[in-house]
Amino acid sequence: MAIFAAILTNQNKLQDSKKRKACLTQLGIMKQIAVIGAGTMGNGIAHVFAMKGYSVALTDVSEKALEKAIATIGKNLDRMIAKEKISEADKTDTLNRIKTFTKIAEGVEGVDLVVEAATENIDLKLRIFEEIDEHAPANAILASNTSSISITRIAAVTKRPDKVIGMHFMNPVPVMKLVEVIRGYSTTDEVTNLVMETSRNLGKIPVEANDYPGFVSNRILIPMINEAIYTLHEGVAGVEAIDTVMKLGMAHPMGPLQLADFIGLDVCLAICRVLYDGFGNPKYAPCPLLVNMVTAGKLGRKSGEGFYTYTPGSKEIKVSASFQ
Ligand SMILES: NC(=O)c1ccc[n+]([C@@H]2O[C@H](COP(=O)([O-])OP(=O)(O)OC[C@H]3O[C@@H](n4cnc5c(N)ncnc54)[C@H](O)[C@@H]3O)[C@@H](O)[C@H]2O)c1
Repeated sequence: MAIFAAILTNQNKLQDSKKRKACLTQLGIMKQIAVIGAGTMGNGIAHVFAMKGYSVALTDVSEKALEKAIATIGKNLDRMIAKEKISEADKTDTLNRIKTFTKIAEGVEGVDLVVEAATENIDLKLRIFEEIDEHAPANAILASNTSSISITRIAAVTKRPDKVIGMHFMNPVPVMKLVEVIRGYSTTDEVTNLVMETSRNLGKIPVEANDYPGFVSNRILIPMINEAIYTLHEGVAGVEAIDTVMKLGMAHPMGPLQLADFIGLDVCLAICRVLYDGFGNPKYAPCPLLVNMVTAGKLGRKSGEGFYTYTPGSKEIKVSASFQ
């Protein structure tokens, strides 16, 4: 029995190493990447691919977003030069590898992998994927950086659901190590392995997850944030007290309320609703305080006020007057 198990283990190892070899061969061929959407995440994704030698076609409907993205990448590379992590020549080479486009049809021409990082809106993403599918080479892998939209749903509007996958980078992309790789219902092992290896090639650590609402990251993070808001709403403790408990007691680098402000309260609410609708379970119901704050336009750092208030150009934060 033990011998039989050992033979099986060896066979599995052999198959795994063959798979890995085939994957690495294909990885060597992956050279051209399209990034759709040049906002917060898109510019970071373009940055990390270009730094590792890939040619990047960065596409956005907005010329202004493209200009801002290139300026941001330049500034982030300058910071790396100041820390002596890269040279001036590395910066020039990285920027030279990024070309910008305003039309998806042009941006995805001849690419091996598309990473979509456009605005989190399901109708928009479905339209974008139809367009990418029409114009990208038939063998190209199509990835989405969505935080909460079903990969299977996105894949269903393409003619290649086996090649559609989630590649969920974290913000800020050049700094954060994790890539959550989400397999849609029809995503093949081959495509998953290739995307895992590509992520490793970027110096990231990929983790595989199946396609259920919130995947792993937001299924755990967003209910924690929602519970922190309920804790505040029910008067159990104040903003600073809640964040301090989680920072000092649980060794979280940032308290959940400050993190909610950082993510954007509108984004937290939208993901909460995806969990609530997706599982039909009342435990995911968004806290009424979160709903009220979003309705009032208090979206966190990006609007200048959430649980804390923010002054542009300053790192100082204060608990919002509403919670003092
Ligand atoms: N911001 C985060 O912390 C974070 C973290 C992980 C994942 N995400 C996901 O990444 C994606 C992008 O988020 P973001 O924060 O970078 O958003 P963002 O608003 O900063 O950028 C979105 C960009 O998409 C562009 N866009 C809109 N329609 C387009 C189209 N048809 N074609 C091309 N570009 C188009 C917009 O002009 C904008 O520049 C979303 O799916 C979001 O859920 C965000």
